[in-house]
Amino acid sequence: MFTPEMLESVAKVEATRKERMATEPRRMTAEEKDELLKKFHPDYRAEGFATIQIGPNKGEKVPLELGNLLHSNSRLLGEKIDLDKVDYDVDVLVIGGGGAGSSAAIEADNAGANVMIVTKLRIGDANTMMAEGGIQAADKENDSPVQHYLDAFGGGHFAARPELLRRLVMEAPDAIKWLNDLGVMFDKDADGRMVTTHGGGTSRKRMHACKDYSGAEIMRTLRDEVINRKIPVVEFTSAVELIKDENGRVAGAVLQNMETDEYLVARAKTVIIATGGAGRLHYQGFPTSNHYGATADGLILGYRAGAPLLYQDTIQYHPTGVAYPSQIFGALVTEKVRSIGAMLVNKDGVAYAHPLETRDVSASAIIRECAEGRGVETPLGSGVWLDTPMIEILHGEGTIEKRIPAMMRMYLNYGIDMRKVPILVYPTLHYQNGGLEIGGEGFTKTIDNLLVAGEAVGGIHGRNRLMGNSLLDIIVFGRNAGKAAAAKAKVVKLGKMNLDHIEAYAKELKAAGIETNDVSPLLLPKYARKER
Ligand code: FUM
Repeated sequence: MFTPEMLESVAKVEATRKERMATEPRRMTAEEKDELLKKFHPDYRAEGFATIQIGPNKGEKVPLELGNLLHSNSRLLGEKIDLDKVDYDVDVLVIGGGGAGSSAAIEADNAGANVMIVTKLRIGDANTMMAEGGIQAADKENDSPVQHYLDAFGGGHFAARPELLRRLVMEAPDAIKWLNDLGVMFDKDADGRMVTTHGGGTSRKRMHACKDYSGAEIMRTLRDEVINRKIPVVEFTSAVELIKDENGRVAGAVLQNMETDEYLVARAKTVIIATGGAGRLHYQGFPTSNHYGATADGLILGYRAGAPLLYQDTIQYHPTGVAYPSQIFGALVTEKVRSIGAMLVNKDGVAYAHPLETRDVSASAIIRECAEGRGVETPLGSGVWLDTPMIEILHGEGTIEKRIPAMMRMYLNYGIDMRKVPILVYPTLHYQNGGLEIGGEGFTKTIDNLLVAGEAVGGIHGRNRLMGNSLLDIIVFGRNAGKAAAAKAKVVKLGKMNLDHIEAYAKELKAAGIETNDVSPLLLPKYARKER
C-alpha cells in the first residue's frame, strides 16, 4: 500500500495528531496570503502564459494551451457547408449537456420554447457529474445572501462582477428548493432539515450536499427531467462553429457528428453556450479532476464569433487531488473531507496551514510545502497528507462511511482505508475561473442572441471560486439563460445565415503572422484515441 518512506511519515502524522487536534492552525493574514500566492500559485508563473494576438481580448494574458486554441484555425475553414440545408430548426439551441445546459433546456421548455440540446458525448458527461462536496445557499436562520456575497466576493479577490454575484447569492435558496422539488436527495437530519457544512472561505455552514456525490445526484435529477419532458438531445454531436445572420446576430451552429464526421446545420433564434470547463487542456502539466470532454470548446466558439473573454488568465487548482496511488492521480478528493475535520499535514507531521483557507491559498501552501522539501515523495511527484482518521476521532466511528462514502470506496479500491490511515494529496486542475463575459440575463455583451451559462462564463466568481458556488451557478445561470433565451426567441426574426466571421478570423490570424495547421475547438483531449 504505502512505501517505507511513506510509512515512516505516517508514523509522524500519528504521533502529532493528539496535539494538533488540540490547537487548530491559525488563518493567514491578507499579506501572508498575497505573498504565498505570488510565490507559489501557478497563475503567477509567467512561463505558463502567452499573450492573445487577435480578437476582443488582444494583448491580454492567457494560459498557453488556451492561447494555442484561440490562435488555431476553424475546423470549417475551406469546408463547403450548405447553410440552406437546415437539419434542425429550433427556438433555443443549447450547446452542452451538463448541469447548466440541462437547467437551461428545462426552463426554456417550461416557457414554451422549442428547445434542443446538442452534446458531444452523452447528456450528463460533464463536470457537474464529477462534483462532490455540495452546493452553497444561504437558507438558514443564521445566514443571509449578503453574508454569502461577502464570503464569495472576498474569496474571489473582489473581482467578481457585482451584478452576477448578486444574482448568484440572491437566487441560491430558490435554486435549492427547485432541485429539492425535482427530486434531488439532499442530506437531511431526522427533522427533515438540510444538513449543511462549511467550505473553504465560508463564514456560515451553507454547503448542502448529497453525501460526496452531490453533482452526480443533481445531474441524475436534471437528466431525468430533460428526458421526462421529451426535450430532444442530440448526443455524440459537437458544435464546431456558431452561425450568424446577415445582421451579425447569432443564428445557430454547425454541428459535427462525432462518429461519422458529417456536418449538420442547426438554425436557432437563440443559442446558449453551456460547454463547461477546460481541465483536459492540462494547463502547466497539471492532472485534472475534470471529465473527459472539458476542452474549453465554448470559449473558442464564442471568441471566434467576437464575444470577449473575462479573467481567462485565472485557473483554479483544487488543493486536494489524489497524489497517490498513481492509478487515480489527479482525481478529486472533495473539500468536504476537510469540512468535516481532516487536517493538511506535511511529511513531518506539521499542520502548516488552516484546512479551510480558500482554494488558491490552500493549493499554493501545498505547492510550497512540496517545493521546499516538506512533501512526501510519490511515484509521480510529491504530496502532503490529509489526516482523514481525525474525522472518525472527532465525529465517531462510521462518519466517513456515512458522509463521504465515495471517497472511502475510491481509496479502498486501492487497498487504502482512509478511516485508518491518512491520504496523500496535491493540487489538481479543477475549474476555469474565467470565461465568456455576460450580463445579468446571461447574454454576451457584444453578440446578439448568444447566451452563456455555467463554467463557460467568466466573472461570476472573480479570480477564485469558493467550494459549492459552481453547482450553484450552473443552476442559477442555467435557469436564467433558459428563460431569457426562450423570451428572446419569441421576438427574433432571423436573416440569411452565413459563416463570414470564420473567414474574418482567419484573416486576422494571418495579419498577426500566425500560421498554423492546428484546428479548434479541440472537442476531445489531445490523447484521445483516434481509431474507430
Ligand atoms: O471539493 C469539492 O467537492 C469541489 C467542489 C466545488 O468545486 O465546488
